[in-house]
Amino acid sequence: MTDTAPKKLHIKTYGCQMNVYDSDRMAGLLAPLGYALTDAVDDADMVLLNTCHIREKAAEKVYSELGRINKVKQARHKDGGAMILGVAGCVAQAEGEEVLKRAPYVDMVFGPQTYHRLPEMVAKLHREKGAQLDTDFPEESKFDHMSAPARIEGRAAFLTVQEGCDKFCTFCVVPYTRGAEFSRPVAQVIAEARDLAAAGAREITLLGQNVNAYHGEDGKEELGLGGLIRRMAEIDGIDRLRYTTSYPAEVDDALIAAHRDVPELMPYLHLPVQSGADRVLQAMNRRHGRDFYLDLVDRLRAARPDLGLSSDFIVGFPGESDADFEETLDLVRAVGYVQAYSFKYSPRPGTPAAAMEMQVPEDVKDARLAALQDLLNEQQRAFNESCVGRTLPVLLDRPGRHEGQLVGRSPYMQAVHVEAPADWMGRIVDLDIVSAGGNSLGGVPRGGGNGEDAGQPARLTA
Ligand code: 5AD
Ligand code: SF4
Repeated sequence: MTDTAPKKLHIKTYGCQMNVYDSDRMAGLLAPLGYALTDAVDDADMVLLNTCHIREKAAEKVYSELGRINKVKQARHKDGGAMILGVAGCVAQAEGEEVLKRAPYVDMVFGPQTYHRLPEMVAKLHREKGAQLDTDFPEESKFDHMSAPARIEGRAAFLTVQEGCDKFCTFCVVPYTRGAEFSRPVAQVIAEARDLAAAGAREITLLGQNVNAYHGEDGKEELGLGGLIRRMAEIDGIDRLRYTTSYPAEVDDALIAAHRDVPELMPYLHLPVQSGADRVLQAMNRRHGRDFYLDLVDRLRAARPDLGLSSDFIVGFPGESDADFEETLDLVRAVGYVQAYSFKYSPRPGTPAAAMEMQVPEDVKDARLAALQDLLNEQQRAFNESCVGRTLPVLLDRPGRHEGQLVGRSPYMQAVHVEAPADWMGRIVDLDIVSAGGNSLGGVPRGGGNGEDAGQPARLTA
């Protein structure tokens, strides 16, 4: 017998967009068991923490959050109720059994590759005593078991097309927690994109740890990311496409050509370089050097002159000298980013870099991070200011902070605020940009216009 009494599910998501996507799928898998989402832990019959392990202290943060939730759980037990507590994602994968040792009140621990077994785990919990641990890399793919997405955020949706990573950058846990590279078949991806479009999505971001390593089976052929993007652009209702995260050494000519030819593909690319110094890139086991990256940026910009670039940087990698760090600053100046993320190197247990000699002292890392962030913030501000006076197509997809205001995203991922009627929500509206802040822009409808949907994006001038 299936228990279909209404129950509440709270999911707390840490880390990257892949986790956001996975959380949505977990909600989708649990919906048939009667679980509806709630924002409040206090309300929930099941709480899932979908965790991230990419940087330091992730596990500690999860344990302290578990401690807090356990108080709610124990109070519930006292009142004769129950709460199922699960830990998912990359901390679950990395820590495995350790989670059950340190937090024995946890009911389920499962890695990113096994959440499709969630309904089965929940059923087992009801049947058997004892916690469920599932951190395999199973033969069958979770994607074969996924139900339709539970919800889409506004009009912009995520779609995972690729997972895992075989690159083994020496600082990174992803190859250990997410497993080997895997691409979903083209037909499956297209079907999901159609479902998203039918549910109201106008923008889709294709996700993968190494998304441009995508090689999806398509009948007898294999299709790379560039080919997939062309197919996606043909889907009715999908006006905007993005993809993230890319590995520079795997950007091929077909992908560059897609930037040239496909107007739906937004002129914005997150292309992490990590460092500007060849010595450091080599020690990181990145399969690209500084010149390769700079040349790639040139080739992408030749294809799409209005391309805005973003990146990830790590400062204080073991052995990074002052001169190496200067090369990173120099690369940032040479490229000119529209925004970027930067991190202090943090040793992840089990990764090669954690055991390297010449770890950089914390105060040096702090100083380098501050200098890099100053430069990146300055570039971001300058880029935002350069948008004032331009007209940008903005997909309006959420209400603003005050009444009569809507917020949307520009092609470059900037948040843009506009005074507009509520029924403009979901439209792509041409806005004249009239103000710029560090993180967002202010716009007015073009020529005081009527908010007509601009639909398919026109090419912007750089
Ligand atoms: N220390 C610091 N930053 C890291 N990242 C990944 N692993 C580490 C680490 N051990 C950063 C990289 C990556 C981003 C998602 O997180 O810059 O691109
Ligand atoms: Fe981690 Fe490197 Fe793979 Fe990116 S390419 S997920 S940084 S191992």
